[in-house]
Amino acid sequence: MAREEIVRKARRLREKIAHHDRKYYVEDAPEISDAEYDALIDELRSIENAHPELVTPDSPTQRVGGQPTKVFPPFRHAVPMLSLDNTYSKEELTLFHNRVARFLGAEVPEYVVELKIDGVAVALRYEQGSLRVGGTRGNGETGDEITANLRTIRSIPLSVRGAGEAGRLTFEVRGEVFMPRKAFERVNEEREDAGDPLFANPRNACSGSLKLQDPRDVAGRRLDAFFYAYLPGRGAPAFPTHAQGLDFLGTLGFKVNPNIRVCRGVEEVIRVCDSWEEKRDTLPYEIDGMVVKVNDIALQERLGATGKSPRWAISYKFPAKQATTRLLSIEVQVGRTGTLTPVAHLELVPLGGVTVKRATLHNEDEIRRKDVRIGDRVILERGGEVIPKVVGVVTSVRTGHEKRFEMPKDCPVCGARVVREEGEAASRCTNVSCPAQLARTIEYFGGRSAMEIENLGPAIVAQFLEKGLVKDAADLYALSEGDLVPLERMGEKSAANLVSAIEASKDRPLSRLIFALGIRHVGVRTAEVLADRFHSIDALRKASAAELEDVEEVGPIVAQAIADHFREPRNIKVMEKLERAGVRMKEERKAAPKAGQTLAGKTFVFTGTISIPREEAAAMVKARGGKVTDSVSKKTDYVVVGEDPGSKADKARALGVKTIDEKEFRRLAGP
Ligand code: IVH
Repeated sequence: MAREEIVRKARRLREKIAHHDRKYYVEDAPEISDAEYDALIDELRSIENAHPELVTPDSPTQRVGGQPTKVFPPFRHAVPMLSLDNTYSKEELTLFHNRVARFLGAEVPEYVVELKIDGVAVALRYEQGSLRVGGTRGNGETGDEITANLRTIRSIPLSVRGAGEAGRLTFEVRGEVFMPRKAFERVNEEREDAGDPLFANPRNACSGSLKLQDPRDVAGRRLDAFFYAYLPGRGAPAFPTHAQGLDFLGTLGFKVNPNIRVCRGVEEVIRVCDSWEEKRDTLPYEIDGMVVKVNDIALQERLGATGKSPRWAISYKFPAKQATTRLLSIEVQVGRTGTLTPVAHLELVPLGGVTVKRATLHNEDEIRRKDVRIGDRVILERGGEVIPKVVGVVTSVRTGHEKRFEMPKDCPVCGARVVREEGEAASRCTNVSCPAQLARTIEYFGGRSAMEIENLGPAIVAQFLEKGLVKDAADLYALSEGDLVPLERMGEKSAANLVSAIEASKDRPLSRLIFALGIRHVGVRTAEVLADRFHSIDALRKASAAELEDVEEVGPIVAQAIADHFREPRNIKVMEKLERAGVRMKEERKAAPKAGQTLAGKTFVFTGTISIPREEAAAMVKARGGKVTDSVSKKTDYVVVGEDPGSKADKARALGVKTIDEKEFRRLAGP
């Protein structure tokens, strides 16, 4: 191909990909399949690999790049990023309107009412139509320059749409980066698997993600963004109303929230706010209120600002999802790694659609800081979809009979000494053979993401330990039906089932075994990467720190945790026992090249019979980065319905989960 032709081809591909990115990530209306999209990217990549000099900064292949940053440089705002005055009632909204109306005289002002997205405010500068820099709000004058992290957000255009002038404009946009609920749930599931602390809500998860030092990590967090302000630069068109500015942003390819209403008069404003307060839970992202803005830009300018906030806009905040109830007692639970967690037992109370009877109190310091006492009336909050937490106490109703909580000095389960390391919030049981730790370790070993031993629940594990039937996870493989039948609530049939479930787990993929070992910081994903790289427990055990750190996604802390794990004599013994029991400790090297990760993050459930064996179908999904689970929930993406389907198909329909047939499945997951 002549050089010019190659240049043109690369440009056409970039435009095409930018178009499909917009269709998919901005308009939520994809026009091509994931496979077709991947083919476009592959084609562009191969041109760019052959001609690296043709790579442009706004090429879709360059979203994730650059070196990790230790500290973010300052990002100075040319126009200060103001914040909004908050109101919490209709009366205050009316007061705001009265102030605006008084200023105006006879005219009835027009307002734009928008959702107040609960995320992190950012500003992006485009020069000549291309994204140059972006940063956070910070103190309104200076924020952090986080361009590399923002570029990973696929709904943010790297260059704007429009031929001629429109494609080369200089301007700034401001908006809110957020983490959709689904992404939040997934991130927290992964963190739970890895033993990392959970994010309390999508906003914290979003701001934590934007602060990550490596853009590759940010890309995995699936952030998204809505833009709500357009600041024209020199030569760029200006518009008389805010609503027109937003429309223009839409035509440039920015994601503007579709739920924007132009209202006349404050009654209409209040109606719109009320209706969103009611349906806020139906949105796939969280909002914490509404924003009301004067539509007319000239009028905005005349109204001006006071200190930190404009006089032409106001936020109407929804009441947080809180409830109060009585704290009956505090139970101290011992986790797999010996961490003691105080858990509040509460008088039942409805909160955000569920009945709550327990809430986490995190740790000793948290209890002290909030001065929570047993018998108190406490304030609960549910942020996102996580377990509720106690956020405060109604001290005015104290009777004087409330009792202060003391962290036990001895483990509530085994009686061993409890320590709290200098600088750590967590108290830990010091007994490595603490039955509680052991119980959690064995439950974890048999868990859904680990060796997947069905029916190995906490009640059974507790009996195993009590009767001295198992002393570590490897002992599970020595259990016979005869051992199980005498246990409580265990018939011959269930004993036989459990023995065969344990037997079946011997043949799990290596990555699951690595995860099941419970190495600190090694979650599902890291276990998979390690299995791919080392192919056997033995090789992993012998790997040097340098070899471990060489693995993508493994840093010095994880490498150290792995080395520590394999040095511990008890762990070595367990591994030897597992091997003797016939548990699969290695895996054939994969011959086939990796398929495109077109199903990354997608969850499948199978029901009924299809012509592909289940194992094989599951392997197809995994090869493309997806996962297969047993039961249908609202988190499921696809239910593959074969012949004679079971109740899962009905459940999928009831939950509105997409059902597909074998043909469609082959199209999605096939080679
Ligand atoms: S307008 C001067 N519109 O709420 C106007 N803000 O203090 C400033 N927010 O963190 C903001 N959704 O990022 C505006 N539709 C929306 C918004 C919005 C969320 C955030 C904003 C800032 C806070 C306002």
